Order: sequence, then C-alpha cells, then structure tokens
Amino acid sequence: MKEKICIVTGANSGIGKATALGLAQLGAHIIILCRDKSRGEEAQSEIINESGNESIDLMLADLSSQQSIRQFVLEYQKKYNKLHILINNAGVNLSKRYKTVDGVERVFAINTLAPFLLSNLLLKILKNSKPARIINVASSVQSKSINFDQLQSKKYFRSWKAYSRSKAALVLITYEFARRLNGTGITVNCLHPGFTKTNITRNYKGIIKFFTKIIFRFAQSPEKGAETSVYLASSPEVEGISGKFFINKKEAKSKDITHDTYVAKKLWDVCANLTNLNSNIT
Ligand SMILES: NC(=O)c1ccc[n+]([C@@H]2O[C@H](COP(=O)([O-])OP(=O)(O)OC[C@H]3O[C@@H](n4cnc5c(N)ncnc54)[C@H](OP(=O)(O)O)[C@@H]3O)[C@@H](O)[C@H]2O)c1
Repeated sequence: MKEKICIVTGANSGIGKATALGLAQLGAHIIILCRDKSRGEEAQSEIINESGNESIDLMLADLSSQQSIRQFVLEYQKKYNKLHILINNAGVNLSKRYKTVDGVERVFAINTLAPFLLSNLLLKILKNSKPARIINVASSVQSKSINFDQLQSKKYFRSWKAYSRSKAALVLITYEFARRLNGTGITVNCLHPGFTKTNITRNYKGIIKFFTKIIFRFAQSPEKGAETSVYLASSPEVEGISGKFFINKKEAKSKDITHDTYVAKKLWDVCANLTNLNSNIT
C-alpha cells in the first residue's frame, strides 16, 4: 500500500480507527476524516505510535453538514492531487429523530447521503488516480423494502428501522455507483464488518442501553471488524471487482431490495436532489 493515498471517514473510533491503523501498518498515506479536532488528534497519535507510519493526516469535517463535506473536498483538492481509496466508514445509530443543519433526518444524512455526496465530489480525483476503490461500510442489517415516504422517518421514528433503511439505501447506492462507474477504473463495493464492540450505541438510553451493553460483551474487537475494510482496500484479489457486498472478506448476498435497479435509480435521484447535485453527475 506504499504510494497509496486513502481517506477513512469516522477514523477516531471503533472500526474506522482500526481500519486506518490496519492500512497504516501496510504503509499507506492516510487521511483520517474526523469531526472533532481533539478526538481526531488523539487517534492520529495513536495510529502513528502503533504503526510507526508518520503519514497520517487529520482533516476535519462534519458529515451531517453538506457545506462541511464540500469544504472538506475543496481543502483536500488544495492539498492532494491523488486519491486511491475512499472508505466511507462513519455511521450512526440514534434513538431519536434529529434534523441536520440541512433539515435532513440525521441517520439517513450521515449513513447514506454523506457517502453519496462525498464520493460524487471526489470522483474526478479518484478517476485521475485509477485504479481507485470506494468502500462503503454498510451492514447486514438492511430493511426489506425502501418506503420513499419514510426515507427520513417523517411519519414516525424507530431507531432500528431508520438504521436498517439507511444501510439498505447505502447498499443500493453502492451498486448504482458501480453500474455508473463501470469501465472507469473505479470499483465500488460495500461490506458488513460483523458484530463489533464500538461506540455505535452511545446514544442509547435506559433499558436498551443496559441490554446492549450485555450483548456487546460478546462482540468482536474493532481490529477484527476492520478486516474486511482493509481487505477490500488493499487486496489484489478484489482488483476490478465492483458492485458487491462482502462479509468476512467473502462475497455475500445482500437483501433482494438492494438489487432493484428501479429503486436504485429513484434513490439516486432523491439523493442528488437533496444534495443539489446533478443526478447525471457520474
Ligand atoms: N459496530 C458494529 O457492530 C457494526 C455493525 C455493522 C455496521 N457497522 C458500521 O460500521 C461503521 C463504523 O461504526 P463503529 O461501529 O465503529 O461505531 P463508532 O465507534 O461509533 O464509530 C463511528 C464513527 O463515525 C463518526 N461520525 C459519526 N457522526 C459523524 C459526523 N457527523 N461527521 C463525521 N464523523 C462522524 C464518529 O465520530 P465521533 O466519535 O466524533 O462521533 C466515529 O468516528 C458505521 O457505519 C456502522 O454503521 C457497525
């Protein structure tokens, strides 16, 4: 991975930090995209100390804000003229409905819209660095259908439903990207990291928090959870493979709805509209 430039979002915690460390150990230059300066600096030092790789750059962005994502991309383009690997790892699971500064429901905004916008805005630089890879950290938790009226949980909010819908949407967007980028030298894949002990449930409260704590005792380590992301970013075995879902470093089946190209196209247009991008962007 020497000479490779990688962005890992949400790299100050959990699977993202372990992914950045794994890639740092392989010699890559890594940009850790974090929203908080001090948490980011702490992770940066930890990754440098543990890997011995000094090429770890911290850049700040709040992925719940489209303006912040756009600002990040502008700053990135000023600093770098290549990008080989983009890992859209950051994600949230919330117990309540919150709106972002853009007025979008927060789980959908961070888990689906942010990877959509960030990947689209970085396409030019990825194309100039081909072969390049986009890797989306999804989940095996995927809703069976996409109800477009409930995409942002406007009628009611259920934590699990909002999360599983946002992850099914991310898989749909991954496959649509792969179709649109076919032949460009950019591959796009997604994955389930496995049940992993991280901070993902930090917003839970009361009895749910209590039970989650017990269940998470049986979860795997973040290092184990990062293995498929590191594999998809670095392995020659997946060179040229695109539009697939992986679990445990192996191709796996995602929910039937994620293969519906009509739904994918409609979702793409909704995301393009919500982010003020031209829907033919790729
Ligand atoms: N843990 C599991 O069992 C599991 C299973 C399936 C899928 N996943 C997926 O794995 C990915 C990583 O999650 P994790 O389990 O490692 O959880 P985590 O420890 O909570 O890490 C999530 C990361 O996302 C960042 N993030 C959240 N909101 C952000 C924002 N607005 N802007 C920028 N960064 C933001 C967090 O930063 P802060 O620390 O600043 O909040 C943190 O670095 C997620 O996409 C999650 O859905 C996890």
